[in-house]
Amino acid sequence: MNRPVLEGLRLNVPPYVKHDRLVAWVAEIAALTEAAEVYWCDGSDAEYHRLTEQLVAAGTLKKLNPKLRPGSFLARSDPSDVARVEDRTFICSQRQEDAGPTNNWMAPAEMRALLQTGDQALFKGAMRGRTLYVVPFSMGPLGSHIAHIGVELTDSPYVAVSMRVMTRMGRAVYPVLGADGAFVPCVHTVGAPLEPGQKDVAWPCNKTKYIVHYPETREIWSYGSGYGGNALLGKKCFALRIASTMGRDQGWLAEHMLVLGVTNPEGRKYHVAAAFPSACGKTNFSMLVPPEGFPGWKVTTIGDDIAWIKPGKDGRLHAINPEAGYFGVAPGTNYHTNPNCMDSLKANVIFTNVALTDDGDVWWEGMTDTLPAHLIDWQGRDWTPAIARETGENGKLRPAAHPNSRFTVAATNNPVLDPEWDSTTGVPIDAFIFGGRRSTTVPLVTEARNWTEGVYMAATMGSETTAAAAGQQGVVRRDPFAMLPFCGYNMAEHFQHWLDMGARLQGQGTTLPRIYCVNWFRKGADGKFVWPGYGENMRVLEWMLNRIEGKAQGADNVFGVSPRYEDLRWDGLDFTREQYATVIGIDKAAWQQELVLHAELFRQLAYKLPAELPATMKRIEAKLAA
Ligand code: OXD
Ligand code: MN
Repeated sequence: MNRPVLEGLRLNVPPYVKHDRLVAWVAEIAALTEAAEVYWCDGSDAEYHRLTEQLVAAGTLKKLNPKLRPGSFLARSDPSDVARVEDRTFICSQRQEDAGPTNNWMAPAEMRALLQTGDQALFKGAMRGRTLYVVPFSMGPLGSHIAHIGVELTDSPYVAVSMRVMTRMGRAVYPVLGADGAFVPCVHTVGAPLEPGQKDVAWPCNKTKYIVHYPETREIWSYGSGYGGNALLGKKCFALRIASTMGRDQGWLAEHMLVLGVTNPEGRKYHVAAAFPSACGKTNFSMLVPPEGFPGWKVTTIGDDIAWIKPGKDGRLHAINPEAGYFGVAPGTNYHTNPNCMDSLKANVIFTNVALTDDGDVWWEGMTDTLPAHLIDWQGRDWTPAIARETGENGKLRPAAHPNSRFTVAATNNPVLDPEWDSTTGVPIDAFIFGGRRSTTVPLVTEARNWTEGVYMAATMGSETTAAAAGQQGVVRRDPFAMLPFCGYNMAEHFQHWLDMGARLQGQGTTLPRIYCVNWFRKGADGKFVWPGYGENMRVLEWMLNRIEGKAQGADNVFGVSPRYEDLRWDGLDFTREQYATVIGIDKAAWQQELVLHAELFRQLAYKLPAELPATMKRIEAKLAA
């Protein structure tokens, strides 16, 4: 096999890598970026240990107290690099219409000139003085017909170790890839070349950022950020943006969905996939602990963020979790909101941008009822409740952990991990749930009467924005399918793809999953959430499953069917009819206003918008007017 050697640089290709095209591509990127060294990750424990030690020595990671948090680390990012940068994220399809109006677009040739080929191309020399890590990974169980392989070339060892936690990363990928198997090439640089003798910083990054996807050639190029979805390219870039285009072309779905298993006291098991926007409690829902009054019920996690869903041999839709770890939002996580998550975080975790306690452990807002007397905050500054009061904004304490601070942890740490989480055939889906964060208007739960009505619910979903993305928080924006920042092609075509998939499966005689719309976040006049949420969401889940079994009643709503007070089980919870009316009720005026926003969305997405959606809107309008 041809083993290229660049002038002054050994490629160090391990003998078990048999893929000439991969080797040639690594050589090409090493030459473009002028990396000082190439290192091929094997995914072993020894390698993880070595790289984390190296990151500790470089000051990127701090080792936490091994008695309190064994095998765990804290990273503090640059304060300018703390979230996904949606305004710097591009879908570079040949035609702008194929990216659609909800994505930033640039012509591929123009973007390539900026990044790769122009005189001032950003990737030219971007890895000078740094090691290029070759990170092979499988999204999904190795060898599954639903899984796909990617290779990320990165100059960030923090990214390399995080990819080890978040994906099936390492040497075992190569036999699946063989000599010419397909892989998605992902190139990542922090954009901070080192000149000879220049001292590195703990979190290198660049003010200029580009998160770029070429859907036709299935490539990802990411420049300037070391954080989360900007840099761990298996996650949002591959598993959602590129995979959604692959799914459209190949007849499957890549969705921003958790997947859970729920077993009733009779031992009957169901699987539910649920889409919520970022930082709206997907991890909590996927690890739900059934409340008092639900003895014998069990919820198990298949995935907490992304689902790849394909028709199985039985004709039903089957889902896998393409990831192997959780990159979850830390603030708000505690033993009440998510005990299973807290137990998952006891050891072997990489925390980013949480606060450090005086005994070498971590803390974040909402972790405990009482505030610690002293912390080091996410920017390395002293924090006490008094300092936080003095320096906080809008009458609030200055947070010790960044609102988008995260934990990175292997799925196998989860005490309620579903036994089938790694199944190569996936789990059959019984129901889809779509939920936004809405203080008003949208009822606690509604069941779509048919697939089209469900697609309408998903397409018109709105949600208040969260700290997961840079920018203003708390404003309602339309977030169709919770995929607004993640759909790699025209959103209107995504609606059509869902309608087509439904029609095709129904045409084959398959019973489609039911579709539900939920909202855990309605607030009362006092500005507080009315629905207790978390484990109590089990009550809503039980109603859904009973509907599937034909055992639960409901009443017609503006769209779909919602449970009346007496249709839910209230054992173990004091929740009055009046409180229920606040979370389930339809305010006609608010809905008329809501429909104006749906119409605005449809105007924006007019190109290729399926006619069924405005037709469904007309039916809702007529119902409201009646
Ligand atoms: C995430 C996100 O990190 O949606 O999962 O932002
Ligand atoms: Mn997400």
